[in-house]
Amino acid sequence: CFWPFISNWLVFHYLWKRVVRQSKFRHVFGQAVKNDQCYDDIRVSRVTWDSAFCAVNPKFVAIIIEASGGGAFLVLPLHKTGRIDKAYPTVCGHTGPVLDIDWCPHNDQVIASGSEDCTVMVWQIPENGLVSSMSEPVVVLEGHSKRVGIITWHPTARNVLLSAGCDNQIIIWNVGTGEAMITLEDMHPDVIYNVCWNRNGSLICTACKDKSVRVIDPRKETLISEREKAHEGARPMRAIFLSDGNILTTGFSRMSERQLALWNTANMEEPMTVNEMDTSNGVLLPFYDPDTNVVYLCGKGDSSIRYFEITEEAPYVHFLNTFATKEPQRGMGYMPKRGLDVNKCEIARFFKLHERKCEPVVMTVPRKSDLFQDDLYPDTAGPDPALEAEDWFDGKNGEPILISLKNGYVPGKNRDLKVVKKNILDNKASKNTENSTPANKSASPAPSIKSEAKLEEILKEIKSLKDLVSSQEKRIIKLEEQMSKIAI
Ligand SMILES: *[C@@H]1O[C@H](CO)[C@@H](O)[C@H](O)[C@H]1NC(C)=O
Repeated sequence: CFWPFISNWLVFHYLWKRVVRQSKFRHVFGQAVKNDQCYDDIRVSRVTWDSAFCAVNPKFVAIIIEASGGGAFLVLPLHKTGRIDKAYPTVCGHTGPVLDIDWCPHNDQVIASGSEDCTVMVWQIPENGLVSSMSEPVVVLEGHSKRVGIITWHPTARNVLLSAGCDNQIIIWNVGTGEAMITLEDMHPDVIYNVCWNRNGSLICTACKDKSVRVIDPRKETLISEREKAHEGARPMRAIFLSDGNILTTGFSRMSERQLALWNTANMEEPMTVNEMDTSNGVLLPFYDPDTNVVYLCGKGDSSIRYFEITEEAPYVHFLNTFATKEPQRGMGYMPKRGLDVNKCEIARFFKLHERKCEPVVMTVPRKSDLFQDDLYPDTAGPDPALEAEDWFDGKNGEPILISLKNGYVPGKNRDLKVVKKNILDNKASKNTENSTPANKSASPAPSIKSEAKLEEILKEIKSLKDLVSSQEKRIIKLEEQMSKIAI
């Protein structure tokens, strides 16, 4: 009879699926590129700070390097592989080591940096890369009282940048006006290990040295939820949002085993799952692909990348594979999805920092067909912002604007970053006219000639002081360089 056969088959099929979970990522294959496609002779930073030291976009790879008498990073066009000359231009405006860098997700020519000199700087890189060293940022953001170790752009609002410093403060800037709009002062009693935006940038989550993971509404400046001792060990944790709003953390157990855990922010009492991994002591940096729900863990000082698929059903976290090499990683860059080669079924590309070079590592899914594999490439976040900074600070949210990778991604022309600093008089004027109609606005009295002249004078004075400071700074850097030569 037919029916028993069918039902047996169904039961079998069901059991089979439970035992052997199907995943298109089971056979993801990692491979380092050939030697001639590496970036060689780079003095990767030795500063003691657990950031990735490397930031990548579809045009450039940026790497924090050792620099005497200040802080610097390299910006190389992706095709500029091979030996990098000692004289290759750098971005060198900071007066202390650079600790973190992040490319603007909405403009591939714009990168932000945070430094030991307590400032954040935003840079506009020329279309084809640097032809001479760059020491003048588009804007300097000053507000932290200690070194700035964390920089992260808002995922969907243009010109919104978050920084976190060792003063335990988080500042959210409107880069378009150079203003600190939000300062989260009293939320973290100790050093912040990392900050991550959720998918639409309405919330942030943080991991802190006090062992707490916090979910914060930055615009309301309120704590939404908190989990103390997310991991019991004393070593650094990381916390990132997944696209469904859950949080993935890495950290250490009391016995110093490295752990990976998953949390539902609605109830952080108990983790959804905890995976124990090994007993190495490098911090596990997570890199997440929201389109495929694959998370890659790169331990600082490890020589491997481990990757997992996250699913909606228990046990949620599924180990996929390990990409292992002999040499340890000093840092790691992660290419945004739109920068991948879809014709090669590339699903991730890493830029592994060695002591003196940067080595791309390509992850692919082996497929026989040459056709576009749309199951591997759901639409992904494109470069266009969903909203402007002002909208976001006013309380609006926007999901990422997705693009198809079907015919590959072709980088477009980026507009120049313009910073229009409001001066105090501007602010006053706009406050006075806030409730008035446009007609009233144009009728409002112009500032008197006298006060305008006065302002001109003050601005001139400021400019000359600024020039003085900058020339002194250059002198100091020169002197420091001379000193260091003498020291050697
Ligand atoms: C943004 O994300 C939050 C949290 O996941 C969600 O509650 C909200 O509806 C989202 N807003 C928009 C406009 O998508």
